[in-house]
Amino acid sequence: MGFYSQVIFPRLIDLTMSTSPMGNYRQDILSDVQGEVLEIGFGTGLNLPYYPKHIKKITVIEPNPGMKPLAGKRIQKSDIKVENFVLQGEELPFADESFDSVVSTWTLCSIANIDQALRQIHRVLKPEGRFFVLEHGLSDDPKVEVWQNRLNPIQKVVGDGCHLNRNIKQLIENNQFKFLELEQFYMADLPKFVGYMYKGIATK
Ligand SMILES: C[S@@+](CC[C@H](N)C(=O)[O-])C[C@H]1O[C@@H](n2cnc3c(N)ncnc32)[C@H](O)[C@@H]1O
Repeated sequence: MGFYSQVIFPRLIDLTMSTSPMGNYRQDILSDVQGEVLEIGFGTGLNLPYYPKHIKKITVIEPNPGMKPLAGKRIQKSDIKVENFVLQGEELPFADESFDSVVSTWTLCSIANIDQALRQIHRVLKPEGRFFVLEHGLSDDPKVEVWQNRLNPIQKVVGDGCHLNRNIKQLIENNQFKFLELEQFYMADLPKFVGYMYKGIATK
């Protein structure tokens, strides 16, 4: 992992993804999280202040060790105990059916082997567990989609592996999940190619 990934990228996402509109969406999706929680792609810990008060402990995985110094500051300030693993979503070391809630915010865009990671999430989720997602991805407007496909190679470099054109709904449904609820919309103040959001809760 190079200098950009480990030093620049963590600061870049910490700055650009800590906006108050994003905070509102984080709070909204996390409001129903309960029980044993696993967060995939913890990044710099930007979700931490938005977990409901009754959540006392979460397990998180994040493959980029460069995120740790920034995440560490948020963990110190939080009342939530964070069990932190430097790991990829494709290789979850947890027992089958061990989590009530799995959380992914703006992470499924970046996982290299997304199907493998979704199979792992499915495996570690309890039968009645819920998968909470807040992601950007492929627009339903063909004109925007054209630009997402064109800009994807640049985004993969700037966004350290992030894809603009993943159909998040299809990927999740193709991996044996059903959506209990799903909203697809453009987030205000973001260019459309990066601002098409999928916010929902899926179950097995
Ligand atoms: C755009 S950032 C979002 C960070 C955080 N989830 C948030 O909402 O602020 C994407 C995150 O996905 C992580 N990521 C990349 N590949 C991954 C993988 N294979 N498994 C899990 N997370 C991964 C990155 O390291 C990064 O922290």
